[in-house]
Amino acid sequence: MEHDIKDLNLAEGGRRRIEWAEWEMPVLRTIQERFKKEKPLKGIRVAACLHVTSETANLMHVLQDGGADAVLTASNPLSTQDDVAASLVSHREIPVFAIKGEDNATYYKHIGAALDHKPHVTMDDGADLVSILHKDRRELLDGVIGGTEETTTGVIRLKAMSKDGALEFPIVSVNDAMTKHFFDNRYGTGQSTIDGIIRATNVLLAGKSFVVAGYGWCGRGLAQKARGMGANVIVTEINPLVALEALMDGFRVMPMSEAAKIGDFFCTLTGDLHVLDKHHFEAMKDGAIIANSGHFNVEINIPALEEMSTEKKQVRPFVEQYHLKDGRTINLLGEGRLINLAAAEGHPASVMDMSFANQALALEYMVKNADKLENKVYPVPEDIDREIARIKLDAMGVEVDVLTDEQVKYMDSWEMGT
Ligand SMILES: NC(=O)c1ccc[n+]([C@@H]2O[C@H](COP(=O)([O-])OP(=O)(O)OC[C@H]3O[C@@H](n4cnc5c(N)ncnc54)[C@H](O)[C@@H]3O)[C@@H](O)[C@H]2O)c1
Repeated sequence: MEHDIKDLNLAEGGRRRIEWAEWEMPVLRTIQERFKKEKPLKGIRVAACLHVTSETANLMHVLQDGGADAVLTASNPLSTQDDVAASLVSHREIPVFAIKGEDNATYYKHIGAALDHKPHVTMDDGADLVSILHKDRRELLDGVIGGTEETTTGVIRLKAMSKDGALEFPIVSVNDAMTKHFFDNRYGTGQSTIDGIIRATNVLLAGKSFVVAGYGWCGRGLAQKARGMGANVIVTEINPLVALEALMDGFRVMPMSEAAKIGDFFCTLTGDLHVLDKHHFEAMKDGAIIANSGHFNVEINIPALEEMSTEKKQVRPFVEQYHLKDGRTINLLGEGRLINLAAAEGHPASVMDMSFANQALALEYMVKNADKLENKVYPVPEDIDREIARIKLDAMGVEVDVLTDEQVKYMDSWEMGT
């Protein structure tokens, strides 16, 4: 079986971590039981381009148990857990192409290897797989019936492709499911980004100024957690409505040019380009710590930082200290890549349980319905979203009220007033 991973000898450690994550993934386990019996993905070749983590491994197990012939490649050069990759290859014979710290050429070579699998369905996180398929491997397009996409940035790219008439098969946007972005983007990114920053630096957050760029689902989560750690949180935004929300949630809001002078920590989560740029670096305090938790490593203008520096040195794992010509230092975490995956372990399993339940069910939906769908980006069907929330609550031992017949009638009528 073809694969390209760091070291097969790491497999046992990987297995233990995959099993640990599985405890916190009851929704996925419920789907797994059904998939084992019904085999809804029988004979379906899947190319998955996802962060290779212990949670993703559980998803890969479920796809395989559902009858899929799946391969996995990384969706980021720094997010792979090498022991998990080894376990998937060794214990499940799932081909994996991913090595933590791989260079860009290897990253794209691995995407190519996943595409060599001639997928019927793509499962993407950031749309690199789909993009390469449309640009360089068009001969494979005929065999693809559809795909799924995990993250905000990927959905934005795919919608742009669809608008241009360039998208050649339908996609289900897992990110748009409420059981995904309400929890994964907010609570998952919030907690794991703090975790990544702390593991990388071990610097106290209490009493420090912490600048969160972008108050979307991820930014909201991070701002909330940073406040919980005792930091003074400042939010920067470009959307007036969202900025207002941040303000009324109790955060200071200001342009980055102002925040740059105050911040001890900066973290970008916008999906945008050069949110931290040269003029911001020029204004920053000596010793400022900067990180990104948005999908791509373009949110911080690293080439500009390089140009302003006389030297850079690695002072701790995932911390590079840039010495600027004027004598100040700026500390860049995780090469500007998703810090929660680079320096920590990504989202906790409990939120990935819902994200990956959406992936598994969206894939099943795609296999059943692809012939009825156009080459567009579709949301996850609402009944899937609700069902996932129901199973999750059930697993957490939480019951909710049910509408009485009288209430159903009232909610459906317009005649009744005071
Ligand atoms: N780290 C992770 O594990 C993880 C998890 C989920 C999503 N993501 C990624 O994080 C990014 C944000 O995702 P989201 O779901 O929060 O998106 P979102 O669309 O909900 O939020 C992004 C916010 O950034 C704001 N913004 C855009 N450009 C800006 C700028 N120049 N300055 C300040 N604010 C700006 C937007 O107005 C918006 O409110 C995406 O790239 C997404 O793919 C990362």
